[in-house]
Amino acid sequence: PSDVDFDGKKLFKYQGCWYNDIILQGILNFQRGFEPQDTDIVIASFPKSGTTWLKALTVALLERSKHSSSDDHPLLLDNPHGLVPYLELIFQTSKPDMTSISSSPRLFSTHMAFQTLREALQNSPCKIVYVWRNMKDVLVSFWYFKCAILKIEEERSMLESMFASFCRGVINNGPFWEHVLSYWKGSLEDPKNVLFLKYEELKTDPNVQLKKLAEFLGCPFTVEEEESGSVEEILDLCSLRNLKNLEINKTGKTARGFDHKTFFRKGQVGDSKNYLTPEMEKRIDMIVEEKFRGSDIKF
Ligand code: A3P
Repeated sequence: PSDVDFDGKKLFKYQGCWYNDIILQGILNFQRGFEPQDTDIVIASFPKSGTTWLKALTVALLERSKHSSSDDHPLLLDNPHGLVPYLELIFQTSKPDMTSISSSPRLFSTHMAFQTLREALQNSPCKIVYVWRNMKDVLVSFWYFKCAILKIEEERSMLESMFASFCRGVINNGPFWEHVLSYWKGSLEDPKNVLFLKYEELKTDPNVQLKKLAEFLGCPFTVEEEESGSVEEILDLCSLRNLKNLEINKTGKTARGFDHKTFFRKGQVGDSKNYLTPEMEKRIDMIVEEKFRGSDIKF
């Protein structure tokens, strides 16, 4: 089936979620041609849920022994999206040159739903880390991002049409709830290989969450590392304030043509309150209540 996104772009439903033709092409090529390696790590998310942060944290965790205090740290030289490429983009060509992926283990990112990703990974024990965030903040963050990449003022009318698409579920990579639930189920069925992280918990309890991520990825912090402040060092390096102020993130564009700086805004939990009307909030609360009933997901 097909339908249209908030901006009139055609969307196609594939394995339970909606994608535009470009993304869908990438997904189909990926499913046909990806050759997983057992050590691959995939960072997955619904857009605007904390992908950039999770990419930075993962890179910093894996690089920590190699670049303790030097200025050749990858995060100082490239934007997190340059360091963790987007599968749907790599697979715009049916046979991409995977030798250009230099990180070891290989790091990838995706916005496709769990079942679609899992199909391509076959039985490989790749690690999948998913970050999710409350639907209201995702919506407002997405609105800001869209206006920033289009280089237009934030218009309420666009927020309103995005809101309508979000609530209908007909939005690129959506429905939001199907996306989140797909990874939630995946993490319950296969907790060794699928980690389900919450943006809000990363904000309130970053030390605990970072240690959880390190354990999951098989590179836990040693006692010596913890005592020497390695956890805090990584959190500082990857903080919104720090990343936003790095020269590389103030300038330049991602491979998709987005200004690096558009990925760093406020990072505030509950910021959507300042933009959504009480009616909009109520509608989202009702959707969340209905769609996530029966799961232990709490917004
Ligand atoms: P806001 O628009 O609410 O500020 P994504 O990376 O998935 O595109 O999500 C972008 C959101 O994550 C934006 O939210 C952005 O400000 C926030 N973000 C980016 N880097 C971050 C970081 N290092 N720490 C916390 N939040 C971050």
